[in-house]
Amino acid sequence: MNDLQGSDQWRTRLGFMLAAMGSAVGLGNIWRFSYVAGENGGATFLLVYLFFVLLIGIPLLLAEFSIGKAGQLDAVGSFRKLAPKTKWYLTGLMGVIGGILILSFYSVVSGWSLFYLYKYITGAYWNEPDGGFGAAFGAWISNSYAPLFWQALFLGVTIFIVMRGIKGGIEKANNFLMPALALLMIIMAVYGLTLDNAMQGVKFLFTPDWGQLSNPQVYIMALGQAFFSLSIGICGMLTYSSYLKEKDRLPAATVGIGLMDTLFAVIAGLMIFPAVFSFGVDPASGPPLVFITLPTIFESMPLGNVVGIVFFILLTMAALSSALSLLELPVAFFNRTLGWSRKVATLVCGVFIFILGIASSLGFGIWSGVTPIGDNGILDSIDYITANIMLPLGGLLIALFVGWYLPKKRAARFSEIESQGLTSVWYFLVKFVIPVLMIVIFLFQLGIIDYLIELLLTM
Ligand code: PHE
Repeated sequence: MNDLQGSDQWRTRLGFMLAAMGSAVGLGNIWRFSYVAGENGGATFLLVYLFFVLLIGIPLLLAEFSIGKAGQLDAVGSFRKLAPKTKWYLTGLMGVIGGILILSFYSVVSGWSLFYLYKYITGAYWNEPDGGFGAAFGAWISNSYAPLFWQALFLGVTIFIVMRGIKGGIEKANNFLMPALALLMIIMAVYGLTLDNAMQGVKFLFTPDWGQLSNPQVYIMALGQAFFSLSIGICGMLTYSSYLKEKDRLPAATVGIGLMDTLFAVIAGLMIFPAVFSFGVDPASGPPLVFITLPTIFESMPLGNVVGIVFFILLTMAALSSALSLLELPVAFFNRTLGWSRKVATLVCGVFIFILGIASSLGFGIWSGVTPIGDNGILDSIDYITANIMLPLGGLLIALFVGWYLPKKRAARFSEIESQGLTSVWYFLVKFVIPVLMIVIFLFQLGIIDYLIELLLTM
């Protein structure tokens, strides 16, 4: 075992909160939220999403934090400590694998963001390149080597920070990244709202089309987005809370983090959709939304080049603060459960993730014929498996662990909620409501409920 075990902690509770917010606010709020909301009905999606965040997301986040803080160890170690001689640690192991998988494609998209930042700084994208932004983006991502360089650069920075540990690396970085991010985002949203036709975007985001509520796809995607965006179900938040000092309480921090993440998603929507509408772009244009449509928009905006630089700085910083938590998750496991030094663990995980990520990157070029799930390419397939299957499954297991494995008294004590009434509400949600809702959505996802309905109708 080594020196860092147990001794490295957040310096302050605020530092922990900023880091956890940093984990939550990321490409998920800007890149993923905007295209998933765009494809799934805008305001209706937002409504279902908010409902899931409040009912499932925040209570589960507290459950995850409770396990980490009580266990004081990494994803696997904490479960082993709280539930010795059981298989519950597999939940943590699935999280470690999930973290590695997510960061493998996350770093590819982050690399694109870094590259776009570079293009804006050099002025190359201030004017539409030959053939348009769509073609330029398509040509760029289908390259075999260049995107790998930017992915490696991004991962290099992530590795550099995680190697320095919690207090000296991750906390310090987030203390700077998060306030800067909040400021830039508010400036961008206010600017977006001053554009012509901005109200149409606001309407798209806030006026639900009630008919969409009967579409199960909206629920499946909103649940996946809630998990992805709050970073829950994967034990990354558990890992972060394990570095808390005993005196730092969980509940208020949890609610703060959940609300901030949601606020950021809404602000990102306010930043993107008004612009999308004011320039007549299809909000359902999918994953390339921020890389194709936004540059088109920036070009025709007053001061668009400055806006472009600011936007891609923001996107890259948001991605970085999330990547830190994704890398810390396996690093903590190798460091604390397997006893590797933090340096070696960080390097080995980082390099492994880079190699794995090559597949996601090549999936847009020479491997574009590889479609593991439906007609989804490699990146989208890994995104789907992690966000829509592994994260919700991890969340379900965490709810079952806290609600059914731990004795009620212990669970209540770990949650640190002071009021008896609130403890009961939280416990009821975690024990019954969340598992039932999640199982129903899983059954929908697997098509089992559709099948049963059809069966009933034909009887
Ligand atoms: N929440 C991050 C985002 O919104 C992604 C993430 C998922 C980070 C899971 C850590 C764990 O971009």
